[in-house]
Amino acid sequence: MTIIHGLILEGRKDMAEFHSKIKTIEWVDNYSKMVDQTLLPYEFKYVHITKGQQMYDAIKAMIVRGAPAIGVAGAHGVVLYAQELREENLSRDEFVKKLLEKADYMATSRPTAVNLMWAVEKQKEVIKNSKSDISGIVEELKQNGIRLEDEDIAINKKIGDYGAEVVPKGATILTHCNAGGLATVGYGTALGVVRSAFAKDNTIQVFADETRPRQQGARITTFELTMDGIPTTLITDGMCSYFMKKGMIDMVCVGADRIAANGDAANKIGTYTVAIAAKYHNIPFYVAAPLSTIDTSISTGDEIVIEERSHEEVTHINGKIICAPDVNVINPGFDVTPNELITGIITEVGILRPDYKKSIAEAFKK
Ligand code: MRU
Repeated sequence: MTIIHGLILEGRKDMAEFHSKIKTIEWVDNYSKMVDQTLLPYEFKYVHITKGQQMYDAIKAMIVRGAPAIGVAGAHGVVLYAQELREENLSRDEFVKKLLEKADYMATSRPTAVNLMWAVEKQKEVIKNSKSDISGIVEELKQNGIRLEDEDIAINKKIGDYGAEVVPKGATILTHCNAGGLATVGYGTALGVVRSAFAKDNTIQVFADETRPRQQGARITTFELTMDGIPTTLITDGMCSYFMKKGMIDMVCVGADRIAANGDAANKIGTYTVAIAAKYHNIPFYVAAPLSTIDTSISTGDEIVIEERSHEEVTHINGKIICAPDVNVINPGFDVTPNELITGIITEVGILRPDYKKSIAEAFKK
């Protein structure tokens, strides 16, 4: 365990190198190793997940979070269940049947980010197509999980490179929530764009929305950007239009949890508000996401299931109640930005532009 909060405040130069080496989630021997994101920014600690149910709970409790990261977590979860079932002396048919049921269960640990269902589906394909015995299936699932990890980093670097091309010189980029290395296996999507742009032009800077109620912007985005030495200003969610009106924001770049076939994009609650403000102030609004975040089975964002989270996330801060105890609370975790507010969707195959129905369909043919 390494406590690095103090080191960041000291502005240590080796932080960027440390950041570039972090793998948010990684398969090691027979378990999944992940950064416990509920502890950030106070403590940087890895946890070892050794059972399928533990993985389900870790995803639900947001120990691992961010669409691509929970995709890989779901894939690892299937391997963990496979390892457990291997010990039960089942016939191969029984093993496959039970494992497919466990995989479906794993996919329900969070409802909005489609990368979770996508990655679990990839593991189900391995199970269904395998000609191997039980141990062979477990090994194939493990290898597939590791492949998804490596692919994620490579994809994010491509997203970063495409995105960097549309970042104006010296731009101030506003982002919401955390779509950095810690929301993926590494490098990040929206923050991948920032990292690639900063490598070309170190005069860019970021405004990071705090992102109520879980504060991923404050806790995780500022943590990541500071490690990279990228100038960052933390603002609260309600401040974005104020700074846009002052001409202080040149571009918005956010991640996504699920994108419909028409380009409507679900992301952390509050993203829609930012998109409306950006449109009003004529500021380009980009969504950066891998193709695995695009759910072509749904035609519009209306079909995206929005996660309802605990009321305590709204009523409490650091365990302390901040409102009248009996007040009504609603806590949707995500909102959907309509495609007409999105300037472009930055993917690993290039930047998709409106008409999204067409450009998304084309992207899947590449
Ligand atoms: O609830 P979270 O923290 O999992 O939500 C994360 C987001 O909304 C991110 O912006 C999105 O997953 C993109 S991550 C590359």
